[in-house]
Amino acid sequence: MNSCFLSFYQTWFDDYASRFHSPDPEIEKNIILKLKHTARVRDNISRIAGSLLLSPEEVAMAEVLAILHDVGRFEQLRQYGTFNDRISTDHAALGVKVIVRSGILHGLPKDEGHLLQRAVWLHNKYAIPETERGERLLFSRLIRDADKLDILGLIVGHLEMRNSDPNMNKALDLGLEEETGFSRQAVHDILNRRLVGIAALKNLNDMRLMYLSWVFDINFPVTFSIIEERGYLESLQTGLPQDREICEAVDFINAYLQERKRTLI
Ligand SMILES: [Fe+2]
Repeated sequence: MNSCFLSFYQTWFDDYASRFHSPDPEIEKNIILKLKHTARVRDNISRIAGSLLLSPEEVAMAEVLAILHDVGRFEQLRQYGTFNDRISTDHAALGVKVIVRSGILHGLPKDEGHLLQRAVWLHNKYAIPETERGERLLFSRLIRDADKLDILGLIVGHLEMRNSDPNMNKALDLGLEEETGFSRQAVHDILNRRLVGIAALKNLNDMRLMYLSWVFDINFPVTFSIIEERGYLESLQTGLPQDREICEAVDFINAYLQERKRTLI
């Protein structure tokens, strides 16, 4: 994709999103959250793409993907009043509908338009299908890493401040409470190198374990380095109870991170 398309897509996105601003402070808080998220995901993806020595055309494609990846969030919030896909709709599928209806991909070669739609659709799925190949695989991996990086930052900030910030966004707790225990299933998933599924979460410790398990779905060495540099895992670990099984899971994750940071692409 020619990099001159970048400003076109950014302008379209800014204009589209501006229609969802609201006088209701709760709604407006969430609109701003998604605007800032999208901007940071664009920064993240450009840093990851830069580490891979991609061509300027590929970097532009990656940035457009970041701009569009969560476009379904605005309509989701308007229609359902929540960002929780489980009780509303798949925001990635909704995003693809918004993109197709808008006609903004018409100026692109067909294969580039299809690539963007596919990578937007896949960005929030549990895993990328093993059959995914070539550019579809590359761009799906890029957006998933860039998105996860920002969500980890948001969650870590939220968990550090949730007890002292009267304006904290309760939606980020996923409806869970701060309790003393944890789910053995979550620890078991981690020790088997599996992502902890959202359905297994019973309290905020389980949520911490789920976000820790995201390291198993990170694709690029630079993403591991950024996670380490920003201290996301330490912060999630600090909130967990002192327990032998928890220590085992945490050690397993730290060893995995060190191993993957060293792995060449
Ligand atoms: Fe998303």
